[in-house]
Amino acid sequence: MSYQSEYNRSIEQPEAFWGEKAKELAWFEAPTNVLCEDENGIKRWFADAKMNTCYMALDAHVKAGRGEQTALIFDSPVTNTKRQLTYFELLDQVSRFAGVLQAQGVQKGDRVVIYMPMITEAVIAMLAVARLGAIHSVVFGGFSAHELAVRIDDATPSVLVTASCGIEVSRVIEYKPMVDEAIVMASHKVDKVILLQREQCPANMLDERDIDWQEAMQSAPSVDCVSVRGCDPLYILYTSGTTGKPKGVVRDNASHAVALKYSMSAVYNMAPGDVFWAASDVGWVVGHSYIVYAPLLHGCTTVVYEGKPVRTPDAGAFWRVIEEYNVNAIFAAPTAFRAIRKEDPEAELVANYNLDCLRTIFMAGERLDPPTYEWTTEKTGKPVIDHWWQTETGWAIAANLTGIETLPVKAGSSTKPVPGFNVQILDGNGEPVGPNVQGAIAIKLPLPPSCLATVWGDFDRFEEGYLKEFPGYYSSGDGGYIDEDGYLFVMGRTDDVINVAGHRLSTGEMEEVLAAHADVAECSVIGVHDSLKGQVPIGLALLKDGSVITEQDLQTQLVGMVRKEIGAVACLRQTIVVPRLPKTRSGKILRKLLRQIADNQEFTVPSTIDDPASVDEIKEIMSKNGLIKS
Ligand code: COA
Ligand code: AMP
Repeated sequence: MSYQSEYNRSIEQPEAFWGEKAKELAWFEAPTNVLCEDENGIKRWFADAKMNTCYMALDAHVKAGRGEQTALIFDSPVTNTKRQLTYFELLDQVSRFAGVLQAQGVQKGDRVVIYMPMITEAVIAMLAVARLGAIHSVVFGGFSAHELAVRIDDATPSVLVTASCGIEVSRVIEYKPMVDEAIVMASHKVDKVILLQREQCPANMLDERDIDWQEAMQSAPSVDCVSVRGCDPLYILYTSGTTGKPKGVVRDNASHAVALKYSMSAVYNMAPGDVFWAASDVGWVVGHSYIVYAPLLHGCTTVVYEGKPVRTPDAGAFWRVIEEYNVNAIFAAPTAFRAIRKEDPEAELVANYNLDCLRTIFMAGERLDPPTYEWTTEKTGKPVIDHWWQTETGWAIAANLTGIETLPVKAGSSTKPVPGFNVQILDGNGEPVGPNVQGAIAIKLPLPPSCLATVWGDFDRFEEGYLKEFPGYYSSGDGGYIDEDGYLFVMGRTDDVINVAGHRLSTGEMEEVLAAHADVAECSVIGVHDSLKGQVPIGLALLKDGSVITEQDLQTQLVGMVRKEIGAVACLRQTIVVPRLPKTRSGKILRKLLRQIADNQEFTVPSTIDDPASVDEIKEIMSKNGLIKS
């Protein structure tokens, strides 16, 4: 099969195309209407199906005779623990944890927030929520109590599932105090907290509210799957937008299952029984899709790794896991390989392991820079595939479809649009541009299965943020170009979102934190190039008249505030004091201009600028502080 024929069919006959792919799954009642329109006028896939995602991911495999196969491998170098669960065992744990949740009143459509480190129980909790037809919202462990509270208020869960701690290399991060603080902070009251005690740091429990995971599991009944409609939500995953309020991306059950199942063979060339390892975190979309759902929907073995690419214990960690569990494909962010390269530039540790089992290395989460691509290809001798995607889509928008036809790789390109995604490059007026011309990357509607159809509780925000800019298209927020051979080059965000070590963060949100400092009159946060993390945020602050704070003290306080309000993962480490910021005559800070200066891109000073001299001034300050990409 050629890539082009598969792709063309997906665009020309989308209903026939996706209707056929849907046949691969175990429905309670197969969809009769492949594509319909919802009350908001958004096209929805498989809305009338009757199903349960957990059933498709676990029960169906056990019924089909895959019960004895390993479903999940847990490997935790930070606790020296290894554990494997068969499909049968995972189903048993999930059914019983669904019983625990049900006993706390969780029903179809209810929300459950999960705030957990990278442990087996996080996966069990997600699948158990899905089993009840409820909606999970996983919050990444690197986020602060405040961020957790914001998500609690938006998702309004009845139950929160957590663990007593996470482990960052050798540092124990206590989760319970953060959970307690978040619950106090939130206006919505969470009635029940189910907590997994970890021996590294047992937590104090509150009598009325807190339930011990292990104790509750001992007497929990196994609960069967609850049937949901295809268009019912499976989860809400909050992602950074351009403002401080994160967006709750809503994922449907049916379209998600169909797209993910298809992706396992088409994008990743995996067969049931293969071992797939997404070295990400369940708190991110990659973790949702490729640690939890896709490998299990496809009957693969998934790896849950509680460790880092380096320091747990060394830069050979990835190679060790690949050899030990016969991993056939690994998926990680380029930053992970940059971290390995930094510690082991000649990849001497690769030689200690047998990587014969590994067929392909997939990378996403940020742009795969050509030097990292070349280093990884050369040192491992394996094909390296870049693919571009977003929390909003839940799977790759552009990729080299190794399961259909592997195309020649072009370094710096995520290859071609994945079937279903009609990717176009548009100019400022929404007109498609020709080959090799940079513009906004947009996707012609309708979006294929798995993509969001709304923002949780806020359809207007979905419309405003994604559909208004270019009528008839979804605006991705990324810029780039398509070359003469149809290869897509994603060059970076065109908005206030940055990517730090593969983690998506909002500079707008950080600005809100900085602006709250008593000495700060105005501020801007921009992403600047970083050789390890891709980008890091830098704060530019203008002091209030009469302020006497030193630049060093201000930095210490602002860094502390961002850590407290957003979390360690925000990685704001540097702030500088500036005499002024370039602004328009109406007083708007020219953030795009600041980004272009930091990225060393060509720019045109807008005619609306208040004082053109402010541009050279800020350029000089940024250059003096080494903030301009070389
Ligand atoms: N819980 C609590 N804290 C966390 C955390 C979590 N789950 N994840 C990260 N943090 C903390 C880190 O400990 C660090 O804290 P510090 O400032 O006190 O040192 C801070 O957040 C920043 O973390 P990070 O940016 O990840 O830096 P790092 O130096 O710890 O690790 C890498 C660097 C490159 C090794 C690491 O970022 C990595 O493996 N990245 C891959 C990212 C990824 O998988 N992305 C998903 C998309 S595919
Ligand atoms: P997230 O929603 O966290 O997955 O982040 C999505 C953003 O990460 C995209 O909008 C891109 O800016 C960036 N991104 C993800 N994958 C790639 C890639 N392969 N190439 C370039 N940018 C990427």
